[in-house]
Amino acid sequence: MEEFIVTIDGPAGSGKSTIAKIIAKKYKFTYLDTGAMYRMIALYALENNIDLEDKIAIKNMLDNTKLDIVENKFFLNGKDVSEEIRTPKVSAVVSPVAAIKEVRVKLVDLQREISKGKKTILDGRDIGTVVFPNADVKIYLVASPEERANRRLKEYKEKGVEADYESVLASIKERDFIDSTREESPLMKAEDAHEIDSSIMSIEEVVEEISKYIDKKIGA
Ligand code: CDP
Repeated sequence: MEEFIVTIDGPAGSGKSTIAKIIAKKYKFTYLDTGAMYRMIALYALENNIDLEDKIAIKNMLDNTKLDIVENKFFLNGKDVSEEIRTPKVSAVVSPVAAIKEVRVKLVDLQREISKGKKTILDGRDIGTVVFPNADVKIYLVASPEERANRRLKEYKEKGVEADYESVLASIKERDFIDSTREESPLMKAEDAHEIDSSIMSIEEVVEEISKYIDKKIGA
């Protein structure tokens, strides 16, 4: 089959990556976690003390960062940073970094290039609105902030990352605010996206609902 694009957009911790991985496996699609790409740039900015107001520093940073994704592992200039990009310190700086136009231009190009001619599921904030406005199936996945904070806290605990409920909730709300009010490609539901509220749904139920939209589209 030629290109087939499924997009999952939604706020922090709504379950996009968990669901996208399962769908990718089920349908043998390539999975692209676009948030991880923004996280890699944010990690570089953090480690190199990049001034986010300085256009020249931003340009140099983008010229100096090579991102590679191999079997869902993320390499920043050749170094595997898959674990590091998920830490709260990266979460704390990623939204301001992702609000920078030049950063988005570079990453959106890369996202289109990686998905070209393939069956791909991508998750992020602007995939159905900006990156692939003509996607075959678009999902907008939401959940209450409290439920999303609980899920994120559980993930941190499993990985042994120290965190507490109040600060995780505050960080999620702050990221939601920056992501949905920024000028460049803000987080919003595409007009033709199917909205799913996963607050009280199991992972299996969400997968089942999305599968229905995909099956309908591919005529299965
Ligand atoms: O997994 P989580 O929901 O915490 O976030 P993520 O998908 O890893 O994305 C991290 C951050 O990257 C978001 O809060 C956005 O600021 C930014 N992002 C974006 O601007 N556009 C995308 N397509 C994906 C992520």
